[in-house]
Amino acid sequence: MENKSPDILEKIRQQYETSPYPRTPLDKSPQDDLNSLFMHNLVTPYYLNYQKVINPEDKVILDAGCGSGYKSLILAHANPGAKIVGIDISDESVNLARQRLHYHKFENVEFHVLSIYDLPSLGLEFDYINADEMLYLLPDVVGALQAMKSVLKPQGIIRTNLHSSLQRAAYFQAQELFALMGLTESNPEDLEVEVVKETMKALKDGVNLKVKTWNSHYEKAEKEVILMNHLLQSDKGYTIPEMFSLLRAADLDFLNMVYWRYWEVTDLFKEPENLPVVWAMGLPEISLEERLHLYELLHPVHRLLDFWCIHPSQTPSSVIPVKQWQASDWQVAWVHLHPQLKTSQVWEDLIQCLKEQKPFVISRYITVPTLNPVEIDSTVAACLLPLWQEPQPVRSLVERWLKMRPLHPVTLEPVSKETAFEEIKHLLSKLEVFLYLLLERCS
Ligand SMILES: C[S@@+](CC[C@H](N)C(=O)[O-])C[C@H]1O[C@@H](n2cnc3c(N)ncnc32)[C@H](O)[C@@H]1O
Repeated sequence: MENKSPDILEKIRQQYETSPYPRTPLDKSPQDDLNSLFMHNLVTPYYLNYQKVINPEDKVILDAGCGSGYKSLILAHANPGAKIVGIDISDESVNLARQRLHYHKFENVEFHVLSIYDLPSLGLEFDYINADEMLYLLPDVVGALQAMKSVLKPQGIIRTNLHSSLQRAAYFQAQELFALMGLTESNPEDLEVEVVKETMKALKDGVNLKVKTWNSHYEKAEKEVILMNHLLQSDKGYTIPEMFSLLRAADLDFLNMVYWRYWEVTDLFKEPENLPVVWAMGLPEISLEERLHLYELLHPVHRLLDFWCIHPSQTPSSVIPVKQWQASDWQVAWVHLHPQLKTSQVWEDLIQCLKEQKPFVISRYITVPTLNPVEIDSTVAACLLPLWQEPQPVRSLVERWLKMRPLHPVTLEPVSKETAFEEIKHLLSKLEVFLYLLLERCS
């Protein structure tokens, strides 16, 4: 291991050696957790950056700081045919991760006891790197980002996250308090967890730290919850501008937030379509970094600054946001259903809605932070059925629409091809915003 503050790394290692994270039971499968699969699926960030739908088969994925391997398992499920490589500095965690993937019958996997700073020694290059819930522990974040960058293929994508200093302020306060009481001098275990629980129980309910970091279910909670929050060692917080500075220092480009739909500043206003003038005029002028910064200052509710990043200048100039497409773009476009929605359950639910003529609530499966569920009128939804078999040119969906609705329901006049095209464009644009559908221009 390189000389990256060895004392701190050893302290972190011990923390996870005695308490590997997460403690998810070995037999638990993420198979039905479509939200997790959606954001661990390579298709999602690749589409966001390249506007292309990639096939994860034979791609090489690294889970850096894999812990007990539950996220490695999600990565394996979400990306059929990909090779999964996991690394972690804790021997015990690596053993559990290996067992977990083996238990779930994933064989194209390898796990190594290795520090993130030593990644180049593996001699591998990756299409995707997941470094979840670990960067904020490290003494040298830029060094860790650079190490990941050095093993990332040119078109590769890194997903990682930092703790938010604004959202997590009270926990940093708790960590300082319990460090002052000597609970984290050596590796905290059952005894120290009990001291935290006793302290919190004994405090008056109105005490600020208790209000902000405690609730009654913590009293009976697994010790892991306290160890990962009140007693977490080497935990640090960052702001959006700090996150961008780290990326610049590591010479990486920001791609997007992983939960990008949860960082939309206009969603914080009562009437997004009717913003105060200063906001309405100012927002379109500012960078994504500034928008995210405004969001965190207005509403710091996200524990993680969870983001994707890429090598510099890797966003192709040919990428045009769908809302700016011209008729010629639509003419050559193909529609893909997001692979995470291509399940027999979602298909059966859709058929059921068609039979009962009920709206199909597509946001049931992959959730989004809108006040209203995203639903599709059942007659329109029937147009999408072929997507469960294979991608379709937009033109075919228009033809299908014309067969289903040849006449206007009020005037009984024949529906023109242009009108059908507009209807389909409207539907596809609405669903593409959430990546339920992915649109590719193929000339
Ligand atoms: C909070 S756990 C997260 C585990 C997993 N990524 C997840 O999200 O479920 C942090 C993990 O990072 C590992 N870790 C910490 N420092 C590391 C380093 N320098 N190199 C590799 N792994 C490290 C720890 O051993 C621990 O297993």
